[in-house]
Amino acid sequence: MNRLRVFFAMLLTTGLLACGALRADSAPPRPPRTGNGLALTPPMGWNTWNRFGCSINEDLVRKTADAMVSSGMRDAGYQYVIIDDCWQGTRDAEGNIRPDPKRFPSGMKALGDYIHAKGLKFGIYSDAGKLTCGKRPGSYGHEYQDARTYASWGVDYLKYDWCSTYTQDAQSSYETMSDALRATGRPIVFSICEWGLHKPWLWGKTIGNLWRTTDDIYDHWQGRHGYEHSVLDILDLQAGLSSYAGPGHWNDPDMLEVGNGKMTQEEYKSHFSLWAILAAPLIAGNDLSTMSPETRAILTNREVIAVDQDPLGIEADRVAKQGDYEVWARPLKGGGRAVVLLNRSAASHPVTVTWQELNLPASLRLKLRDLWAHKDLPSARGSFTAEVPSHGVVMLRME
Ligand code: GAL
Repeated sequence: MNRLRVFFAMLLTTGLLACGALRADSAPPRPPRTGNGLALTPPMGWNTWNRFGCSINEDLVRKTADAMVSSGMRDAGYQYVIIDDCWQGTRDAEGNIRPDPKRFPSGMKALGDYIHAKGLKFGIYSDAGKLTCGKRPGSYGHEYQDARTYASWGVDYLKYDWCSTYTQDAQSSYETMSDALRATGRPIVFSICEWGLHKPWLWGKTIGNLWRTTDDIYDHWQGRHGYEHSVLDILDLQAGLSSYAGPGHWNDPDMLEVGNGKMTQEEYKSHFSLWAILAAPLIAGNDLSTMSPETRAILTNREVIAVDQDPLGIEADRVAKQGDYEVWARPLKGGGRAVVLLNRSAASHPVTVTWQELNLPASLRLKLRDLWAHKDLPSARGSFTAEVPSHGVVMLRME
């Protein structure tokens, strides 16, 4: 018996010693990562990709910054001018990334200064792998160096893509760049763009400020084309994700296609309204220097933007669906609700929201405001019905 006890005591001691040795060898425990405190409302801005793809240069970026001011977009809340893929040239002998000298001859610092002088902020793009999707140098193995370079150029926003990443672990790849950005000491919004592959809504909250929930958007109302998703297709993929979003960390259903020409004005209004009720980043992707007054009116609808930017930061849920007719709703600061009545069908149709769907007592009388007609409607009790155009919405604020 005694021998057995001694044997177990020895076993225990050896075990504890082994653990101690392991502990001493491993790195000291890191403090838990917390959010960077940026993007307390969804970021708003413009990005080169949806309209211009790889056909970009510094002139386009400067003209866009000018148009953001002259069109009233800056004053409506748009801030970031973001250069997406294909700005990169090669790395120098020390491994520092340089812009493509033909397209960006004045350099990125000068472009950042130009953007800042307009009262706007500067965004750029890179990739967690060795190559970007456009086959330019990615940041793999150069994360801290690139973050320092961006900070020296005055970058305020980084979109970080997921091409050529092979067996890389998504969460730790994004953590590395997140830490690299923080180490610069410059506040830089971090946009996680891994297309929702590894459910970034489950781990992205303290790493980045927004994460793509899907593959790329394309300028279509309905359907899917390879990895490209239409507005309705992306909308369906957002259902059930609302609880993951909040101030500083947003679901990103991809950038706007408003004004790019393949949808109707009605569809663009719906696209914009849906993105706003989803508390999505509002990153325009059209040619701002040639946009029509109709497109400008959609992008600068301040009542719709105010829903997107509501400080509570609660993303909408689909609270009712009957075939092609849906109701999306979100609570707003002060106790009100924003509501989108959506008609996906090919003909105009009435759509109803009940107070029950809004978690409100049926007896309550609510004031209604139509956010596209810019007018107050008669107050209502228990429910509200509106005729909604084909592929259209009626967007309301109720309080
Ligand atoms: C995709 C990304 C797009 C765009 C493109 C650039 O992966 O989802 O938004 O950035 O790469 O090559």
